[in-house]
Amino acid sequence: MIAIVQFLAKNKAPFTINIYPFLSLYGNDDFPFNYAFFDGDTTPIVDATTGIQYTNVFDANFDTLVSSLKAAGFGDMTIVVGEVGWPTDGDKNANAEAPHCDLDISKFTLFGLIDEDAKSIAPGSFERHWGIFRYDGQPKFLVDLSGQAQNKLLVPAKNVLYLPKKWCMFNPNAKDVTKLADNINYACTYADCTALEYGSSCNNLDANGNASYAFNMYYQVQNQDDLSCNFEGLASLTTQNISQGNCNFIIQIATSSTFSLRPSLVGLLLMSLSALMLL
Ligand SMILES: *[C@@H]1O[C@H](CO)[C@@H](O)[C@H](O)[C@H]1NC(C)=O
Ligand SMILES: *[C@@H]1O[C@H](CO)[C@@H](O)[C@H](O)[C@H]1NC(C)=O
Repeated sequence: MIAIVQFLAKNKAPFTINIYPFLSLYGNDDFPFNYAFFDGDTTPIVDATTGIQYTNVFDANFDTLVSSLKAAGFGDMTIVVGEVGWPTDGDKNANAEAPHCDLDISKFTLFGLIDEDAKSIAPGSFERHWGIFRYDGQPKFLVDLSGQAQNKLLVPAKNVLYLPKKWCMFNPNAKDVTKLADNINYACTYADCTALEYGSSCNNLDANGNASYAFNMYYQVQNQDDLSCNFEGLASLTTQNISQGNCNFIIQIATSSTFSLRPSLVGLLLMSLSALMLL
């Protein structure tokens, strides 16, 4: 570390640190919950040498770095917070209700614009849920990017086109369910099932609901290809919105190729053609 810090100092580069109060909570069930938040009502932790009182782990982590750099003889080094954030699903502490700080976006770089359903979940299931927008460009929570603490929703993406309102679900008439687990596994290998994980938005589904969620995620990520809602006869299509409570069974956004095949558009085209012919 000293060699790296010397190198940074020599080249007048800042020291960049990532501080994730969320990961402190995630990594240790005994971590004091409120200490992870800026406005947490928490008994301060007092630094024995300086007497400084800490009410959140962000400040404490940051000062630990400042103090270490000072001790190593680099007290005047510029420090940049490289990453900080809070995911909204995939863990019991990951949700859109967690308090946010309001950032002046002119001073920040945004790390995750929308959720990423294919990102590696090696760090944890929450890793796909860092976006400030949902997969379809719809805002998830109140935040003020002008830094003026006016809690407001970001402007949603406009004119988003979705695939038809068709969902893939567990077929309640399925006779042989011995291969259900294998099929759920298959679906979740190629689609995002992180919302099913412990403490996540879809964790309270029953076994059939679990299967339906997995099958639907696969079906949607395959752009509603009919062949992708079979699962050895265990799945069937429905036009009923099978979402339950906070658990949203999504409809995929239209891709450019599906867009051109949309029947309504074909109809529109034919109508314009006949209008032209009338002229
Ligand atoms: C549903 O799936 C989740 C995640 O795989 C699992 O933790 C849960 O126990 C399942 N629920 C039922 C009722 O099978
Ligand atoms: C399905 O229902 C959920 C929950 O009520 C809702 O949030 C979602 O927008 C609905 N989806 C569609 C495609 O209508």
